[in-house]
Amino acid sequence: MKTYQTQCLPVNPDSVALAGRLLAQGEVVAFPTETVYGLGANAFDSRAVEAIFQAKGRPQDNPLIVHIAEDSQLAPLVADVPENARRLMQRYWPGPLTIILRKSDRIPFEVTAGLDTVAVRMPSHPAAQEVIRAAGVPIAAPSANRSGLPSPTRAEHVLQDMQGRIPLILDGGACGFGVESTVVDLTGDVPVLLRPGAVTFEMLTQALGRVRIGGGVMASLGEGEVARSPGLKHKHYAPRFARVLVLEGADADIARHVARFTQEHGLCCAAVVKHALAALLPQHVRVWDAGADDAAYASALFDALRALDDGKTQIIFCQSVPASGMGLALMNRLLRAAAFQVERVAPQGGTHDASVG
Ligand code: TXA
Ligand code: MG
Repeated sequence: MKTYQTQCLPVNPDSVALAGRLLAQGEVVAFPTETVYGLGANAFDSRAVEAIFQAKGRPQDNPLIVHIAEDSQLAPLVADVPENARRLMQRYWPGPLTIILRKSDRIPFEVTAGLDTVAVRMPSHPAAQEVIRAAGVPIAAPSANRSGLPSPTRAEHVLQDMQGRIPLILDGGACGFGVESTVVDLTGDVPVLLRPGAVTFEMLTQALGRVRIGGGVMASLGEGEVARSPGLKHKHYAPRFARVLVLEGADADIARHVARFTQEHGLCCAAVVKHALAALLPQHVRVWDAGADDAAYASALFDALRALDDGKTQIIFCQSVPASGMGLALMNRLLRAAAFQVERVAPQGGTHDASVG
């Protein structure tokens, strides 16, 4: 693999122009979006797209999302644009929504990992739009993390994972949503939500009527079960060293459980919890206050998982949330980071394992 002196530059007209030139030459460039940082390449250039897979260490069977900045860039990518796609685009583009449609011949199979469908999204982040316009082509871009790790929500996360592997990172500060876009498959009879995000299940059903939630969203897929979104079957979001454990229960009960657990096992523990619980946890647990609501929690989660994973911390407790609205996206990421290990904390301090799938 080629090695680089990776530059990390603030977003400005010069750095965006440089990004555009590099992308046009077939190079890979990281840039901010409103969800997470992306690792982009010219979607029409199969060699450039292959370089993304190499830089990430991504399994070859996991397809990429194609990013566009103008409505007119969609038609050449897809076989047709059904009515339900138009409705979603009108409501939620630009924004954190990815739509899967049947692909055209112009999109190389390297982008779609051999599938005859393509995922398309129009990001709302101004820097992302400027980069796509500067390149003059649609940009295939997965999240800019090394495969399996939490997605990057700050330029320094990208640098941790991509130093020496790509020529340029554009630094646009922290991403707003902090979890990746909603992915919805519109190629079947009924739309299927494959990955929940900030465009919520409730918003999709309001726009489309019936929407199915894909099999891998809240439970791990069974042995031999076919993943409609190949990304679902791969390990995801887990920190490098620490184990993530999701705790479900009332604040006071979780606090008591964490205090007893850490005392009994003498492990080095950290916790990502909402504001109300943060103050109740014992002193020796490193606490990441993830704010008061699900949106703040989602936006903090990947940053917290990276920052708390210092090599010493053995367990990171994460507080569960109700799986509705933004909470569905948050729980999907929490469950994956925890390899579906959930502990339901009972009121009297007794616990019983409630692992899913
Ligand atoms: O917010 C986002 O979507 C970010 C930013 C950079 O835009 N990108 C992102 O890409 O999260 P990535 O590659 O990390 O996740 C793409 C997801 C994967 O789960 C992949 O399997 C799924 O979308 N996907 C892509 N193309 C697909 C297709 N044709 N059919 C089914 N799933 C697809
Ligand atoms: Mg990803």
